[in-house]
Amino acid sequence: MSSPLQTATRVGIFDSGVGGLSVLRALRSTLPDQHFHYIADSGHAPYGDRDGEHVIERSLKLTDHLVAQGAGLVVVACNTATAWAIEALRARHPGLPLVGIEPGVKPAAALSRNRRIGVLATPATLASQRFDRLVERHAQACEVVRVPCPGLAAAIERGEAGRHAADVLLDRYCSALRQADVDTVVLGCTHYPFVAERIAARLAPGVTLMDTAEAVARQALALHQRAGWQAFAKHSPAPDVLLQTTGDRHTLEHLALDGLGLHQPAEFVVV
Ligand code: DGL
Repeated sequence: MSSPLQTATRVGIFDSGVGGLSVLRALRSTLPDQHFHYIADSGHAPYGDRDGEHVIERSLKLTDHLVAQGAGLVVVACNTATAWAIEALRARHPGLPLVGIEPGVKPAAALSRNRRIGVLATPATLASQRFDRLVERHAQACEVVRVPCPGLAAAIERGEAGRHAADVLLDRYCSALRQADVDTVVLGCTHYPFVAERIAARLAPGVTLMDTAEAVARQALALHQRAGWQAFAKHSPAPDVLLQTTGDRHTLEHLALDGLGLHQPAEFVVV
C-alpha cells in the first residue's frame, strides 16, 4: 500500500490567518519542487485570544479539508494550534505526516549569554501545558519572561502592522522585555516575523530574535525524504501554491505578495 505522501499532491499548511505565510516562505525555499496548499482561517481568527476548544475544533476541520483536497503532509503553521490541537490531529489522522511549530525556547536557551530569554506569544500558547513542558525540558537554567500579546496577531491580520494601534501594542510588549533585560527574544507566534523589524527597533542593540520557521521546514523535508516523495516531485509539473482563506481574500493576497513576492489570487472557502 502506498503512503499518503506518495499518492497525494501537495504539502498542506494552515494557520489562524496570514501568519503562517512566514512558514510557507521557509518551506518554499527548503522544498522548491513541491506544491503547496495554504489555508488561512481568517474568518475564525484570532485563535490566541480564544479558548482551547475553539482552536481544536477549527484545527480538525482545516486538516480534514487539506487532506480531502490532496495534502499528503500537513504543516500546522500556528504555535497556538500546535499547543492545543496537535495531539487531536495525530489521533484523527494516524497515518498522516504532521509537522507542528513551537516557540523556539530550546535554541534561545542555548544561545542566551545572560540566561534571560523573553517569549512573545499569544495568551493561549503561553497558557498551554505544552508550553510549560517546553520550558521545563529546555530552559530550566534560564529566566523565561513570558509576554502574552493580546491583540497583536489580530492587528497584523487586519493589515495594520505599520499603523499606530499596532505600534502602541509593540511599545507595551517590548518595554516588558527591556525591563527584564533579556538578550534573546523568541517570536512565538507565526504572525510576529512580519513585525520583526519593529520589535528589534524597540529592544536594545544586540538582542537576538528567534523564530522557528526554518526548523519547521527542515522537519518537513526530513518527513518528505523518509516517505520518498522526492521521486514524486520529479514527475510533477512546475510547483505552484494554492491560497485559500475563510476570511478576506485581499488581506491574504496582499501579504503573500508583500511578504513572499507571491503574485497569486486567493480563493474564499467555507470550512
Ligand atoms: N499565528 C498564530 C500562532 O502562531 C496565532 C495567531 C492568532 O490567531 O492569535 O500562534
